Amino acid sequence: MNSNTLSPAVLSTLEKISTLNRGFFTFEEGIKLFEEARNAMSEGSGYAIEVGSYCGTSTAFLGVAAKETAGVVASIDHHLGSEENGPAWESFDQALYDRERETISTLSRFRSLIHSLNLDAYVAPVTASTAVASIFLRDRADFIFIDGGHGEEVAFNDYFAYAPLVRRGGILAIHDVFEDPTRGGRPPFEIYTRAVASEQFTHASNLGSLYFLRRR
Ligand SMILES: C[S@@+](CC[C@H](N)C(=O)[O-])C[C@H]1O[C@@H](n2cnc3c(N)ncnc32)[C@H](O)[C@@H]1O
Repeated sequence: MNSNTLSPAVLSTLEKISTLNRGFFTFEEGIKLFEEARNAMSEGSGYAIEVGSYCGTSTAFLGVAAKETAGVVASIDHHLGSEENGPAWESFDQALYDRERETISTLSRFRSLIHSLNLDAYVAPVTASTAVASIFLRDRADFIFIDGGHGEEVAFNDYFAYAPLVRRGGILAIHDVFEDPTRGGRPPFEIYTRAVASEQFTHASNLGSLYFLRRR
């Protein structure tokens, strides 16, 4: 998408997100996520689900889409980090480590970002494991973004729990889909191929490793 087509107010909020926060999302990916979510939400009930909030970067892009469509995004994370966010891993961020509890803790930074962007009314934080949240998040959504744990078990569990909730014509987005195994881990690519093989979803578009599938 051409970011010149966005209103100055929206563009300025989206630009602010990337300067304010740490995360695993580029500005270009954020703009693409925003656009796809806004389109799907404006054609449906205005409900999106995010699996994996971390410090809220991608959530904020979805939150702006929710604001634009008078919708809401439920963003799920236990806020304890994934295995690869732990000490001794390459994605470890010392500033997010809670020494007392001996764990990563991203909730406070997540809340601060959403609040500083005035998105509290459009983002519903769900502080739970994705498995527990799936017990009560049962409504169909226009847009579901899977970017939680990248291990095989958790990625497949997230796919089986959340992909069926995408409404007909809605969008399932998956981050870190790498066809080339030398560029990244397999599970996000495997759930993407599983979705296509299920014949419930067709490839819609992608920007780098950020993939979008449309529900038939
Ligand atoms: C790759 S990060 C998400 C990045 C985020 N979307 C962004 O744009 O910055 C993955 C997140 O998934 C969360 N996570 C991993 N496994 C989880 C599980 N089983 N239940 C809940 N959250 C989980 C981690 O706590 C981590 O914050």
